[in-house]
Amino acid sequence: MSEVTQSPLRLAKRMARLGTETAFEVLVKARALEAQGRDIVHLEIGEPDFDTPRNIIDSAADALHKGFTHYGPSAGLPQLRETIAQYVSETRGVDAKPDEVVVVPGGKPIIFFTILALAEEGDEVIYPNPGFPIYESMIDYVGAKAVPIRLREEMDFRLDVDELAGLINDRTKLIIINSPQNPTGGVLEKKDIEGIARAIGDRDVMVLTDEIYSRLIFEGEHHSIMSIDGMKDRCILLDGFSKTYAMTGWRMGYGVMRPDLATSVARLMTNSNSCTASFTQMAGIEALRGPQESVEAMCAEFKRRRDVMVAGLNKIKGFSCRLPKGAFYVFPNITKTGWPSKKLADAILDDAGVAGLSGTAFGAYGEGYLRFSVANSIENIEKALERIDAWVQKNL
Ligand SMILES: Cc1ncc(COP(=O)(O)O)c(C=O)c1O
Repeated sequence: MSEVTQSPLRLAKRMARLGTETAFEVLVKARALEAQGRDIVHLEIGEPDFDTPRNIIDSAADALHKGFTHYGPSAGLPQLRETIAQYVSETRGVDAKPDEVVVVPGGKPIIFFTILALAEEGDEVIYPNPGFPIYESMIDYVGAKAVPIRLREEMDFRLDVDELAGLINDRTKLIIINSPQNPTGGVLEKKDIEGIARAIGDRDVMVLTDEIYSRLIFEGEHHSIMSIDGMKDRCILLDGFSKTYAMTGWRMGYGVMRPDLATSVARLMTNSNSCTASFTQMAGIEALRGPQESVEAMCAEFKRRRDVMVAGLNKIKGFSCRLPKGAFYVFPNITKTGWPSKKLADAILDDAGVAGLSGTAFGAYGEGYLRFSVANSIENIEKALERIDAWVQKNL
């Protein structure tokens, strides 16, 4: 029998512009090494290693039994949109209304839908670099111009407001900010967000403010640009349940934005997911309204681990690491090792059995850095530090 030859796949050209999130690839590689019998310490993936609190799980099970097993409205169940509007009003000091809330499967779809709804060829979108890779990927995908604003180590990985002001022009459609920040753990100060609002002035520019780590702050407090007078209607607030309540696998997040944009984002939901799973939305109400002790305990534990990790990294030759103020990542500078980031991350995984990410997984300005997540036990963090130190002593 003659073999059937497959014709070449004719993907749409835009697919060549779509990027990815390297964390998932490193996880696959680390698991393959484990399958060969290797012991790997996982510091690559960005998810809490805690279980979802019991009250939230119980509430989802209860909702399933009560019949929340059907389609719901694309923008989310009214009772959850109401709860989120109240939560955002209290935490951001604004008057958020339920029709400004869109519930989606995770925080990520808010990035996807916002950029899809607002940006197109001829537009410029300013985004943090190093930063969450999906921003740049999506800006490229829709054919807009991705304009990086560099986060500076000497400023504890905040952005320089004057530099941002210099990047804004008549083509700027959207500015993306993220605080607390992935991958650096940097946190914007009040004066920073005031400066960003001033830099925008009365221009017709929207701001996607990614605040998915807003409850994981170790020093100081969270400041949202949405709280600044006159900014609410220009903001798309991204927040969610994944990080705060250790609910990454549940897939639930939300955006808060002016009602006309909310309608467009809900239409994108109708065209893609129909709606977010109904019983998980009922559990979302419990997450926001129920006891919050688990969030505080998790944050305190991340802080303890951060301290161990940063102190340990600073003892390793060629590494220097700032103390991140939020999220659960550390972002050591490794330029003094003389190794490029990707090669060093690969060697540390292959030879030392520690999975971390190259800073370049977060954009070009991530060169010279590695990212380690501290969502692992102190025992494993200490093991990772010993292994990296031993590898450095042998190889550098
Ligand atoms: C900055 C940032 N925004 C958004 C997300 C997406 O979160 P979710 O898992 O809820 O889609 C992440 C997840 O790593 C993140 O780090």
